[in-house]
Amino acid sequence: MKKKALILGIESSCDETAAAVLEESTESIPNLLSNIVSSQEEVHKRFGGVVPELAARSHIDKIDLVVNEALKKSKRQLKDIDAIAVTGGPGLIVCLSVGLNFAKALAVSLKKPLIVVNHLEGHALSPKLVTEIKYPYLLLLISGGHSQYLAVKNLGKYKRLGTTIDDAVGEAFDKTAKLLGIKFPGGPLIEKFAARGNKNRFNLPKPIINKGGCNLSFAGLKTAVLKISKTLKNNQDKYDLAASFQKTIEEILNKKTKIAFNQFKKISQKKNNYFVIAGGVAANNNIRNNLKKLSFDENFVPIFPPQNLCGDNAAMIAMVGLEKFKLKKFSKLDCPAKPRWPLDKKAAFLKGAGVKL
Ligand code: KG4
Ligand code: ZN
Repeated sequence: MKKKALILGIESSCDETAAAVLEESTESIPNLLSNIVSSQEEVHKRFGGVVPELAARSHIDKIDLVVNEALKKSKRQLKDIDAIAVTGGPGLIVCLSVGLNFAKALAVSLKKPLIVVNHLEGHALSPKLVTEIKYPYLLLLISGGHSQYLAVKNLGKYKRLGTTIDDAVGEAFDKTAKLLGIKFPGGPLIEKFAARGNKNRFNLPKPIINKGGCNLSFAGLKTAVLKISKTLKNNQDKYDLAASFQKTIEEILNKKTKIAFNQFKKISQKKNNYFVIAGGVAANNNIRNNLKKLSFDENFVPIFPPQNLCGDNAAMIAMVGLEKFKLKKFSKLDCPAKPRWPLDKKAAFLKGAGVKL
């Protein structure tokens, strides 16, 4: 019987040091043998955001421990590994370099192929760790650094339908959290605050809601939250602002997703299309429930990764690694870290002043 491919995945693009071991399966879903994530939350929380130099140092401290732990938990040995998949970008260059150099050294010493993976493609394929999904599908990627609608046509083949022209959704959650006195990363706690608040208390703006196709914008919303935050008197006021903010995000995503659905239907003529929602913000229960309902109403099949695979992890990197391994898409050892690495290389850069929608 042919040996099932065994992939070691490594992730260090931002503030999680992660390693995972994934085994090919005769079934459509591979076996995730281990998935270790070491978060740097404690390192960064007093700074209100990720400090690149501290993040890189922490990756250097942890990477061999995390990889060893992933191997130990998988009950496999380094010699059994068939390829090393590692995040090569996008992300903080000092952080990416730690994982990438570690993976290159392993690949050389084991004489096994190196597979450099786009972190965003990891999020895009993350639901494949638990669900069978066929290309093409529509993807909403909502994380701390990115907010995009993409048509995923095949492995490595993406068409961007819309993107944020300023902040990412996760960034909006984190900045709102900071204004409410919640430590970084604030997204998960905003959800808890919102559950206790009145979502109709504050009327917040929805930038570019009626223009720009399914492009997104959150900067104006953040400014409105900043103004209101200065008037808050007690905890209930904070809960109400968190709830109103979350409701506004949901309404923006609902409207823009409908536009993305219509655009995607022109690309795929299938009767029931898949709609994958991935990235850290996809862990938010309200956003999940809302987009689920909208999808069913519009004949799309909503697919979310399990909540523990929404945030950054190496299982998703190993997942892309496995697909590339089967196609023998290996990387060269001089492959550089890429701080900027868009999934759709042809899409226009849409950030900053002077953006025309
Ligand atoms: O994908 P991810 O782990 O890292 C990036 O690649 O950016 O996403 C992190 C983001 C952070 O902004 C965090 O606040 C947000 O995801 N997040 C949430 C929730 N859990 C994490 N935002 C809203 N609600 C949540 N439950
Ligand atoms: Zn991410």
